[in-house]
Amino acid sequence: MQQEIDGLLAQANAEIDAIEDSEDLEKLRVHYLGKKGLITELLKSVSALPKSERPVIGQTINAAKKVIVQQIKQQQERLMQVKLQASLIKEKIDVSLPGCGERLGSMHPVTRVKQRVVELFKSLGFSVEEGPDIEDDYHNFTALNIPQHHPARALQDTFYLQDDYLLRTHTSPVQIRTMEHASPPFRIITPGRVYRCDSDQTHTPMFHQCEGLLVDEHCTFSSLKGLLHDFLSRFFESAIELRFRPSYFPFTEPSAEVDIRRLDEDGRPMNDWLEVLGCGMVHPNVLRNVNIDPDQFTGFAFGVGLDRLAMLRYRIHDLRTMFENDLRFLQQF
Ligand code: PHE
Repeated sequence: MQQEIDGLLAQANAEIDAIEDSEDLEKLRVHYLGKKGLITELLKSVSALPKSERPVIGQTINAAKKVIVQQIKQQQERLMQVKLQASLIKEKIDVSLPGCGERLGSMHPVTRVKQRVVELFKSLGFSVEEGPDIEDDYHNFTALNIPQHHPARALQDTFYLQDDYLLRTHTSPVQIRTMEHASPPFRIITPGRVYRCDSDQTHTPMFHQCEGLLVDEHCTFSSLKGLLHDFLSRFFESAIELRFRPSYFPFTEPSAEVDIRRLDEDGRPMNDWLEVLGCGMVHPNVLRNVNIDPDQFTGFAFGVGLDRLAMLRYRIHDLRTMFENDLRFLQQF
């Protein structure tokens, strides 16, 4: 019996020593110490021995059991250390590497200009209205006093879609949509995207406009002039001079194109005349089309290119740079 115990102990020692994996170690533990383990079985067999031998053999088996338990424990700790070292090496972080950093975005110049325009007009009591980019022929042309086959349709190179639909060529249809659904007085601005089949240094197929419309009982061209002067001098944060050149738009009569130049402190012009917007008194036909009596109400409207305002404000010479998404350009604002 004694020999058997010694043999078992030696075998267990050798096997536990050779273990390199904690799952295998657990199997060994069960093999020797589990309910049906070899040591457990040995302990059970003690009862079959002659009474006089039992205490000595029992003690010997228990001592062997203790040694095995101890050895398994040590081996468990060693394996855990090995595992820990391995993961420390694997997950090593080089704290001396430069960080990724956070890169701040910036607002697109057109967005900045749009927000500025909206804020200035809101402070004058105007509200913001929006309309669809895909318009129907009626709202983009007919209701604005541009009937079918009218030569003015050729002034705007339209992207036509199916049936009667098109990409709106200006924000003026939003005037119609607003006036169709409410009654005067109106005081609105309508910033948004517009589309024309055109592309060169100062034209892109998509650009941004902001329409302004005021309809009331005593609305005159001089109020339009005053409003635009106030708006543009606040927008450019400078003393300015405006020049109203007679022009033609089917939806306004009279119509004008407005040129601007900045003035220095002594009132001397700082640059040449630059065209900024189109405007005029709302044509009586347009008012009639939305059931407003032109004898009771008059109105004025203007349309300004937001991209054009951005070009003037930030001295950008090529409109196309606005839509190329070149970070070196965009980060300057
Ligand atoms: N809708 C005109 C355009 O796009 C601009 C404009 C708006 C002119 C309102 C007069 C009044 O060219």
